[in-house]
Amino acid sequence: MSREWRIGVAGLGVVGGGLVRFLQERPGFAPGGDTVRLVGVTARDRDKPRGADLSGVEWFDHPLSLAASPEVDLFIELIGGAEGVARAAVTAALKLGKPVVTANKALIAAHGLELAALAERTGASLHFEAAVMGGVPAVKMLREGLVGDDVISIAGILNGTCNFILTEMERTERSFAAVLAEAQRLGYAEADPTTDVGGFDAAHKIVVLAALAFGGAPNFAAAEVEGIQAVELIDIRLARDLGYRIKLIAEAAGSARGASVRVAPALVPLNHPLAQAGGALNALFVEGQRVGRLYIQGAGAGAGPTAAAVAADIADVIAGGRRPVFGRPATELKPLPSLERDRQIDKAFLRLMVRDEPGTIAAISEALAKAGVSIDSFLQRPVEDSGHVPIVLITHPATEMAIDDAVTHIASIPAVIERPRSIRVART
Ligand SMILES: NC(=O)c1ccc[n+]([C@@H]2O[C@H](COP(=O)([O-])OP(=O)(O)OC[C@H]3O[C@@H](n4cnc5c(N)ncnc54)[C@H](OP(=O)(O)O)[C@@H]3O)[C@@H](O)[C@H]2O)c1
Repeated sequence: MSREWRIGVAGLGVVGGGLVRFLQERPGFAPGGDTVRLVGVTARDRDKPRGADLSGVEWFDHPLSLAASPEVDLFIELIGGAEGVARAAVTAALKLGKPVVTANKALIAAHGLELAALAERTGASLHFEAAVMGGVPAVKMLREGLVGDDVISIAGILNGTCNFILTEMERTERSFAAVLAEAQRLGYAEADPTTDVGGFDAAHKIVVLAALAFGGAPNFAAAEVEGIQAVELIDIRLARDLGYRIKLIAEAAGSARGASVRVAPALVPLNHPLAQAGGALNALFVEGQRVGRLYIQGAGAGAGPTAAAVAADIADVIAGGRRPVFGRPATELKPLPSLERDRQIDKAFLRLMVRDEPGTIAAISEALAKAGVSIDSFLQRPVEDSGHVPIVLITHPATEMAIDDAVTHIASIPAVIERPRSIRVART
């Protein structure tokens, strides 16, 4: 027998507004004959236009009262933030045994285990497909599609704002600051861009994906996070001369014992699919022991794609399939411990600025040898007007500690005018 699901939506911004419009256009979207009806909404400003007809939909002054309303069967949180009203309202709905759908990666990365345990205690379900990669079904792929495999590693581009900025820096040969200012004008970047350009948004997402991939609970504290603020145009140009493109890569490798989870700028070969994913696109590689390498790419943000992901979660709630939130019971989940950083062995891109003096190249080679690092490729650019010479080299694979040592030794050479810039070459 078909039934009607009464839906409450908290947050009517980009995602919430998109979802409300979608629900009104396609109330019968879920397979199986059940329908959905938007019965309640909440946001900060009641008078803001939402691009949807909200007459007949009850306005709630607080997300908590919407979450707790007996009129609401399914609570949808699209406010955002790891703490505050979003966390309180999701907790309240789960305590009442109500299914919850959220797009809030910060919340899931910070409190995923606690919320999963609560959902299991009360028999509620918690869904967050839209939290990672927007319209691209990365969560379902890892939790459901790959349940029969053992994931070895995941790596991808998970923040559209950073990808847009890096793409535009290369395309228009402009600085980070200039492109960021344009992205803010166009609405691609927030007024306070730290969450995006500092790598934290990508870190929230990779932490959630790592939990699903390796059978643990999200452990944001164990993630290493570096943003794109220090990427200079000269690095982008020199990387390209050597056949690479700089991307903000979020990656995790490991097993149920733990994972190394990191977000940092990295060089990707120009012909690699991750290098081809330009603009605001998101992309992800997954390597499984049995299925081998999988690649998905698409719109990681925006009203349409993200509302479609929320709708897919609503359809799951309606279908009634019961799956543990992170693929296995919360009682078995432990925050994934961090695997040792000095085990990482990668090639590195080192960019130096030196004075045009004889013997400098020999001194650099000596410094690298002292650190036990050898050179794979080397490029010296013409002397600049300042009299300085840009030199760039790609090392053979070495531990991060060895690369750090090499940077320190090179920085102490008198003709080297600034500490070398080191960027890892992605292992993809
Ligand atoms: N934007 C995307 O493409 C995207 C993609 C994937 C995931 N997400 C996630 O989706 C969530 C929402 O993102 P968004 O981009 O839609 O954000 P947004 O455009 O800033 O919208 C946030 C909404 O929450 C409401 N709100 C804020 N504080 C509130 C409070 N204290 N009480 C009630 N309502 C409150 C706002 O009300 P007013 O409108 O009245 O100010 C607004 O409607 C976040 O968790 C985000 O990380 C977003």
